[in-house]
Amino acid sequence: MEKLIIEGGHQLRGEIPVSGSKNTALTLMSAALLADGPLELTNIPALRDIYTFSKVIGFTGTQINYDAESHTLHIDPSTLNRFEAPYELVKKMRASFYMLGALLGKGGTARVSLPGGCAWGPRPVDLHLKGLEALGAEIKFEHGYVVASAPGGRLRGGVFRFEPSSVGATVNLLLGAVTARGYSRLENAACEPDVVVFCEMLKAMGAQIEGIGSHTLEIEGVSALHAADFRNCPDRIELGTFMMTAAMAGSAGETLRIVDAEPLHLGDAFLSAFAKTGTSFSWGKNFIEVVTPEVIQSVNVDTGIYPGFPTDLQAQWTVMMTQAQGNSKLRDTVYTDRFKHIPELMRMGANAIVVGNEVVIQGNTTLQGTHVMSTDLRASVSLVMGGLVAEGETHVHRIYHLDRGYEDIEGKLSALGAVIRREAYDEWAEPDEGA
Ligand code: UD1
Repeated sequence: MEKLIIEGGHQLRGEIPVSGSKNTALTLMSAALLADGPLELTNIPALRDIYTFSKVIGFTGTQINYDAESHTLHIDPSTLNRFEAPYELVKKMRASFYMLGALLGKGGTARVSLPGGCAWGPRPVDLHLKGLEALGAEIKFEHGYVVASAPGGRLRGGVFRFEPSSVGATVNLLLGAVTARGYSRLENAACEPDVVVFCEMLKAMGAQIEGIGSHTLEIEGVSALHAADFRNCPDRIELGTFMMTAAMAGSAGETLRIVDAEPLHLGDAFLSAFAKTGTSFSWGKNFIEVVTPEVIQSVNVDTGIYPGFPTDLQAQWTVMMTQAQGNSKLRDTVYTDRFKHIPELMRMGANAIVVGNEVVIQGNTTLQGTHVMSTDLRASVSLVMGGLVAEGETHVHRIYHLDRGYEDIEGKLSALGAVIRREAYDEWAEPDEGA
């Protein structure tokens, strides 16, 4: 196992780049399977989830090669001959479930392992399954696998309403609908930037989709999609994480610049909540500059679907609120039990109470470095942020979670002046008994 060791209290200065979006990249990789020939995806981040999904795609016989140096992925689906995603790979990453829509859309058949829960609670896939059935798929369950087929080898299209709105289910249904025989209408569809950019790639490949960016998507199926090279968008969650890091751990009155970013993808709710903390910021086409405030004001937030406050930024927000003036409250309406980071932050001295889907956080807290455990991707980055402002050394264990979604985080933060290093450790080692 590996951990990050962070020496707290070093003020961050300078410029930090944002990598390509992890979540969008996974949708683009799925779209590539529908092409009739090889294509190139650029700005794909070097992350564990990308390597895992590349293996899932490679399992189908698709040729896939990733060059981490240039962040470029080459995918040639013309050799795809196995319509399956096995448990051993799907269990590592839930988004592998995109293979269901992609393989159905490609060849009218799919055998995909059910993903199971995740670290912070159950995550259902009922909408993916009911939605694909509405498009004409016949679905059975066999020994933990979803076995799906389209009569006559092609989905027929149909109308489906997502309740609640779901990013993953919208992506899966789009993958099926774009090559269906007929018309589909997806109501209450997700309009997160990940879905918008994914739709833009499908359109570049010849798909006919109307209503992109709205909650109603109308699709006229086409018989085949052609290959199209595509550039992935910047990661909005990494951008939001760095903005909060700048507010907490920068030098008061100084500007920290975040580049290679897409500020418009953050959504109004996050930007207005961030402004209310008293942190001033400005942006241009692909950057944001954040001025570290003398004092962070406490702000209550509720997460919500886009353009609401992203649930993927709530763990980071809670740690920022430990440094704010006054107490605050955060309610997660998307994932109601996503608070595994709170007990770990409390080991660092945070004072917070979770009641139902809400957490109340005490501000003005001095965090203290200690050993803490990552439980999931966003929880682990919140612990790193805590470590940057804590007294003494923080050891963030099990950072394989962090490596799923933050590319070279220690390199990026070191360049800003953070003192942070990665070390291998033995999880089962006994404590030293001392001399
Ligand atoms: C995606 C993101 C994840 C983010 C989440 C919410 C990827 C790979 N992951 O996850 O980082 O936290 O969006 O922004 O892009 N739901 C159902 N039935 C379903 C599917 C979902 O009830 O079949 C519910 C979920 O329990 C949740 C809500 O819908 O309450 C939204 O989840 P969803 O948008 O599907 O999340 P993911 O696509 O899994």
